[in-house]
Amino acid sequence: MTHPTPRKKAIGWPARHALAVGYAALALACASAAQTAGASIGANATSELAASAAPNTALARLAAPADNRTAVCGLPAGWDMACLRAQYQGPPAHWPRPAVDAGKDWQEWAPVPAVPTPADAAEQARRLLGQALFFDPGLSNKGRVACASCHQADKSFGDGLALSVGEDRLMGRRRAQPLFAAPFADRLFWDGRAPSLQAQAKDSIRNPFEMNNTLAAALAHIRAQPQYRDWMQAAYGHTDIGEDEMVDAIASFVRTIRPPATLADAAIAGDTGQLNDQQLLGLHLFRTKARCMNCHSGPLLTDNAFHDLGLSFYSRRNQDLGRFEATRDKADLGKFRTPSLRGVAHAGPWMHNGLFASLPGLIRLYNAGMGTVPGDPAQDPYVPPKSPHIRALELDAAEIDAVVEWLKIL
Ligand code: HEC
Ligand code: HEC
Repeated sequence: MTHPTPRKKAIGWPARHALAVGYAALALACASAAQTAGASIGANATSELAASAAPNTALARLAAPADNRTAVCGLPAGWDMACLRAQYQGPPAHWPRPAVDAGKDWQEWAPVPAVPTPADAAEQARRLLGQALFFDPGLSNKGRVACASCHQADKSFGDGLALSVGEDRLMGRRRAQPLFAAPFADRLFWDGRAPSLQAQAKDSIRNPFEMNNTLAAALAHIRAQPQYRDWMQAAYGHTDIGEDEMVDAIASFVRTIRPPATLADAAIAGDTGQLNDQQLLGLHLFRTKARCMNCHSGPLLTDNAFHDLGLSFYSRRNQDLGRFEATRDKADLGKFRTPSLRGVAHAGPWMHNGLFASLPGLIRLYNAGMGTVPGDPAQDPYVPPKSPHIRALELDAAEIDAVVEWLKIL
C-alpha cells in the first residue's frame, strides 16, 4: 500500500478490509460454535453462544438481527416518520436525548457563533491585512503557493486532494484541513501540535512541504508591498511590522472563517419542517443509533478532541501515529483531532489522509466498527488502540443513505 495514487487506492482498502474483518469474525464464531457443539448439542446452542458472546459479534447479530422497535419511533419495518417529525419539533433542547456513552463529554448543537464585530479600527485592519496575506503567494519561497492554494473556500477551505501539495509539487503526508473548526480550537492541526493560530501560520510558512519559506523572507515581501502599508499602519501603528505581527494578522482573518448557512442551520434553529424524510431520519440516526454525537457534537459538530478510529496504518509504509508523534505519550497513539462536519460534503476526500473518496463508503466502514487494529497490544505497547466509542452500528442500507443525506446538508 503506497501513497502515490492515494485516491485510487483509497476506495479499495477500507472496503476490502471491512470485508476481511467481517469474515474473520464469522470464521471465529463458527469455529467456537463447532467446539461448543461437540461438548453439548442443544437446540439453543446458537442463541446461548450468542448471549455469552460480545454484543457485536457476527454470531450475536445472527441470533438477534437489528431491530429498531425499542428505539424512539422505531417500527419492525423501518421508521415511523410522522412520529419522528413530532419528536423533532423546535430546537435541539426539545429533541430526544442523543445516544452518548456514559462519561463522554458532549455539547448540544447550536448555531455557529457569529463573527464578533471588530472591537476597533485596528482590529478591522488586522483582519483585512490577514485576508490579503492569506491569498498572497508572495509568502512562499518562490512566490507560487498561498494559504488559499490549499484552503479554498468552495471546498470548505480544503483543497480537494488526498494529500496536500506544496511548493515545487512536494507532497505532504496529510490532507489539508477544512478551516471551519480552526477559529474555535485550542490545538491546531490533525495532531494538535500547534498551540495557537499564530504558531500554526508560522509552521505553514516554514514547512518545506507547504510554503517552504523563512519568516524573515515572507516578512520582507510583505513590507515591500505598497498596498499593505495603510493596513499595517492602522493595525499596528507602524509599517515595519515583525514576524509576530505578520502571523497575528493572518490569525485575525482565520478567526473570521465561518461555514455558509445550510438547511441544517434551519433545523438547528428549530425549523425541522424544511428537512425531507431522509434528511430528518439521517439527523435522528446521527444523534442516536449511529452514535456520531459521541464525537461530532457542539455547534461545529466536533468535540475538538483526539480519537483513534484505527486509521493509523500502524507498522505499514504510510503509518501515521497522529497526536502521538507530537506528544510521544502512548495514550495518544493513533489519535487525530475530530474534524468539524460543517460543509463536509464539499471537503472530500475525507480523513487525515484522504482515505475515503465517497461518503457512503466512509459510513459503511463506521457501520462495520472500522477495521481491526493489526498487532496485539499485549505483545506490542505501540499498537494504537481503537477508541471505545467506535462500535459496529447495524445500520441497514436505507439508514446509511439517510445519514449520508444528512451529512450533505451540514
Ligand atoms: C501546501 C498546502 C498548504 C498550504 C500552502 C497551507 N496549508 Fe494550512 N494546512 C495544510 C495541511 C496539510 C494541514 C494539516 C497538517 C497537519 O495536520 O499536519 C493544514 C492545517 C491548517 C490549519 C489547522 C486547522 C485546524 O483546525 O487545526 C490552519 C488554521 C491552516 N492550515 C491555515 C493555513 C494558513 C493560514 C496558511 C498560510 C500561511 C496555510 N494554512 C498554508 C495544507 C496547507
Ligand atoms: C470516537 C469519535 C468519533 C465518532 C463516534 C465518530 N467520529 Fe467521525 N471522525 C472522528 C475523527 C477523530 C475523525 C478524523 C479521523 C482521521 O482523520 O483519522 C473523523 C472523521 C469523520 C469524517 C471525515 C471528515 C473529514 O473532513 O475528513 C466524517 C464524514 C465523519 N467523521 C462522520 C462521522 C459520522 C457520520 C459518525 C457516526 C456514524 C462519526 N463520524 C462518528 C471521530 C469520530
